Amino acid sequence: MPTIPSSLVDRLARARCVVVSTGAGMSAESGVPTFRAEGGLWTKFKPEELANVDAFLRNPQMVWEWYQSRRDVILNCSPNAGHTALVEMEPLVQGLTIVTQNIDGLHAAAGSTDVIELHGNIRRNFCQQCGERYDDASLLSMTEIPSCSCGGMIRPDVVWFGEMLPEKALARAERLCEEADVFISVGTSGVVYPAAGLALVAHQHHAFTVEINPEETPLTPYANVAISAAAGAVLPEVVRLLRERTAG
Ligand code: OAD
Repeated sequence: MPTIPSSLVDRLARARCVVVSTGAGMSAESGVPTFRAEGGLWTKFKPEELANVDAFLRNPQMVWEWYQSRRDVILNCSPNAGHTALVEMEPLVQGLTIVTQNIDGLHAAAGSTDVIELHGNIRRNFCQQCGERYDDASLLSMTEIPSCSCGGMIRPDVVWFGEMLPEKALARAERLCEEADVFISVGTSGVVYPAAGLALVAHQHHAFTVEINPEETPLTPYANVAISAAAGAVLPEVVRLLRERTAG
């Protein structure tokens, strides 16, 4: 059982605004592959051939098929104990918002009510040419890339390298990090900006900053508390201690 410092439980219980920033490690225990560790997606595939708009315009069918294969995996995954713990944390703390880099939709599937998706959501699509939205689930199993009524190609609603993050989502995330009393970074290698910069914003604005990750990251030096263990073990324990504190 990971040891949770009492300072974290105290800070959470007193906080008015809590931001939990999640990355691929959050969903690892659900069976969704991460990107950079051994066996991760970017150790087997080249992002420049699959996750940028030039690659899509050069070879749309190949990019579409790769995202369909990721959908096959993700749509068969369920939220894990860490996702569930964040849902259970909502009534135990004030003002909890999840800011995620994950595109798997597992926080919402678990039941979290306030989730900011910085990198989009693989369960949705839009037209590369006119922007028309295509959220129909039937597209998620199409092997041939579908076309829009305007003649454009339909692509997954995920942020590719070189693209801007959704403006309102990023602005709200930054504002919350400025206000946060507690900022918890879970399962991110902390190397992809602007998402990684949110931890620094929270730190600069004096949030109590926590990292949950079995490995050290560039964000670790900024953490008041770094818990070196898996999200699925740590977060349920934090919830248990918060409940104990509320009851006592
Ligand atoms: P990474 O694959 O870079 O990092 C995953 C992190 O999760 C690593 O630091 C692991 O040590 C940690 N980890 C693994 N299992 C864990 C567990 N059970 N509990 C807690 N931590 C665990 O993934 P991200 O940081 O999310 O962007 O990657 C950021 C972005 O890079 C992604 O959103 C994606 C990718 O390119 C886009 O596609 C735009």
